[in-house]
Amino acid sequence: MELKNVLLQKEGNVALVTINRPKALNALNSETLKELDIVIDEIANSNDIFAVVLTGAGEKAFVAGADISEMKEMNVLQGRNFAILGNKVFRKLETLEIPVIAAINGFALGGGCELSMACDIRIASEKAKFGQPEVGLGITPGFGGTQRLARLVGMGMAKEIIYSTRLIDAQKALQIGLVNSVVAPEALLDEAKKLAGEIASKAPVAVKLSKQAINRGMQVDMDTAIMIEAEVFGECFSTEDQTDAMTAFVEKRKLEGFKNR
Ligand code: CAA
Repeated sequence: MELKNVLLQKEGNVALVTINRPKALNALNSETLKELDIVIDEIANSNDIFAVVLTGAGEKAFVAGADISEMKEMNVLQGRNFAILGNKVFRKLETLEIPVIAAINGFALGGGCELSMACDIRIASEKAKFGQPEVGLGITPGFGGTQRLARLVGMGMAKEIIYSTRLIDAQKALQIGLVNSVVAPEALLDEAKKLAGEIASKAPVAVKLSKQAINRGMQVDMDTAIMIEAEVFGECFSTEDQTDAMTAFVEKRKLEGFKNR
């Protein structure tokens, strides 16, 4: 299937995914969500990609939200199905085995802010703007915003952002922990790719298991979470990478690279 709204490029062991509807500020319509679903499957099925960078096409927007023209015509069932589709795709992204870095190049509003929050790490351009404008459109956030925003920045701040629809700039997003770092617009993609490249150079199995332990552990009580960590820690000892890396360290030599996928 020929994709037009979502682009996938491979650069070494890193995938660059671009939401590509710049004329609509990369707004997510059903078609774009379905294409993103296909691209995530393709990444999940490849065994030589170890990190992903996700960005928006054009100068202005990462993603300016779910597509308002499409939502305008929806009935109850269509609205529910649209939320289920978005949530299914975002959850697939969030639980992709390998880390995903959002390179937020501009507006990240509504579904766009929600998309960035389904990623593991967020790097923002100084020009990025964040917000959840939904209640101004007569709807609630529908692609995970009521849940992930509160988990990331705390309930009080999430409520202020969602109830007021006020936009926040990149510095404020950094201050409240919505993004990991803020960089100059022209440095954004290079910074995101550099971080992705560093992650991709580490033991892939250990990185995947770390992601799994963090994600699963955040949803359960501390005693269960610690057991999840102990289990994935133990699993690492079944890999050659653990033996090779520790032997190289003890023998004071540099490791050639990791073998296990
Ligand atoms: N859906 C559909 N089209 C959109 C869009 C969206 N979310 N955001 C922007 N566009 C379109 C505009 O309609 C416009 O199209 P035309 O050129 O055909 O008129 C084009 O993109 C450029 O946008 P503007 O002319 O509005 O650009 P601007 O610089 O004046 O404003 C903006 C930029 C402040 C981001 C403004 O476009 C805007 O407010 N967009 C909507 C943001 C929003 O409310 N997002 C939340 C959607 S609801 C949601 O996401 C629900 C959910 O949780 C699932």
